[in-house]
Amino acid sequence: MKRIMRAYNIDDLASLARRRLPAGLFEYIDRGAEDEVTLRENHASLKRVFLRQRVAIDVSRRDPSTCWFGVRQAMPVGIAATGLAALISYDGERALARAASAAGIPYTIGTSNFTAQADLKEICGDRLWRLIYPPKRRELLHHHLAVTRELGIRVLIVTLDSPVVGNREYLHRSGFQPGRVGLKAFVQMMTAPPWLFGTLLRYLLSGGLPEFADMPEGERRFLGGTYSWANTADDFTWDDVRALRSAWRDILVLKGVSTAEDARNAAGCGVDGIIVSNHGGRSLDGCVPSFEALPEIVDAVAPKVTVLVDGGFRRGSDVLKALAMGASGVMVGRAPLFGLAAGHEAGVARALDIFREEISRAMALVGCRTVSELCREHLLASRQSGQ
Ligand SMILES: Cc1cc2nc3c(=O)[nH]c(=O)nc-3n(C[C@H](O)[C@H](O)[C@H](O)COP(=O)(O)O)c2cc1C
Repeated sequence: MKRIMRAYNIDDLASLARRRLPAGLFEYIDRGAEDEVTLRENHASLKRVFLRQRVAIDVSRRDPSTCWFGVRQAMPVGIAATGLAALISYDGERALARAASAAGIPYTIGTSNFTAQADLKEICGDRLWRLIYPPKRRELLHHHLAVTRELGIRVLIVTLDSPVVGNREYLHRSGFQPGRVGLKAFVQMMTAPPWLFGTLLRYLLSGGLPEFADMPEGERRFLGGTYSWANTADDFTWDDVRALRSAWRDILVLKGVSTAEDARNAAGCGVDGIIVSNHGGRSLDGCVPSFEALPEIVDAVAPKVTVLVDGGFRRGSDVLKALAMGASGVMVGRAPLFGLAAGHEAGVARALDIFREEISRAMALVGCRTVSELCREHLLASRQSGQ
């Protein structure tokens, strides 16, 4: 616990995570596709824009809460879907869900979930969101919709930025391929005692590695199983989005939209929300950083469509910049995973506390009492960036 409390920012949590995880598993979280240009620029683009600080404002009472899709959120941050989080720490999805629920923010569970959505729904209530990749077999899509609907989960997110998997060369080198473990990875696992005893052995002693909880019977095995990227649709089009809109009457959000054209297409299909995202730089390397894509999308479809953004957010002040640019909020992927690796549920809670404290402090320093007061007048592009 002391270790976690001495993590003063998200980068400190990342350092702790690096020390506790097998190297290849840390890379699986931390790294991006190919030359990692988009990974770096997601973060760097946030640093090229400055906050214009207003002064002599009574900021003694600040409220960082906001409302997404009719549900009050304690702060404008949600936990993004990150596949295989349960391998980072024992029962990791439940830890993420509990920490999100305690912090009063949404938790997104992806398609490769080891913990049943039903259990997570009990923890998170209306703040559990479900994300799916469009599956090649459309009947699997209907299976996912049926399970999600039956549980009363209201927010369905569909990822569109990865019709094929991004080129993650480091996984070939480390041997940490999801579902397959090479010799090098095995050696790394044996030489990372905190993870070996705290996660892997705990699974093995409690009945073996977990399985994909909400896949149909016969498709649940993880190691050596049938689940693979080959199952993801590379032929999913706007016609499919329209069909999905008819099939899913509750809240529908498209993730991985990064141009105004596609944002307008999405709005035309009647979706409720967009997550401006490039998969945290894990898919198309060299594509536009999320924060740079944000303004054209906000201008094209907000506020009719709720616009969220993810990619590279590590500081409360980063979150304020996105809000000032017109986003309704920010999703974070790696930050809570670093917390999870560093200290299980307490580590995730620490990551979320860091965001909450930094957001509240930055609001005071920029001269805002509510998140809705933030606007583009609070932003100044760096003169060096040429914008
Ligand atoms: C380990 C890991 C696994 C991820 N798995 C998925 C996934 O299964 N589906 C998806 O749409 N996005 C996935 N993402 C992307 C996140 O949802 C999110 O877009 C990204 O992490 C945001 O960037 P950030 O990590 O810089 O906050 C994953 C990201 C990470 C780091």
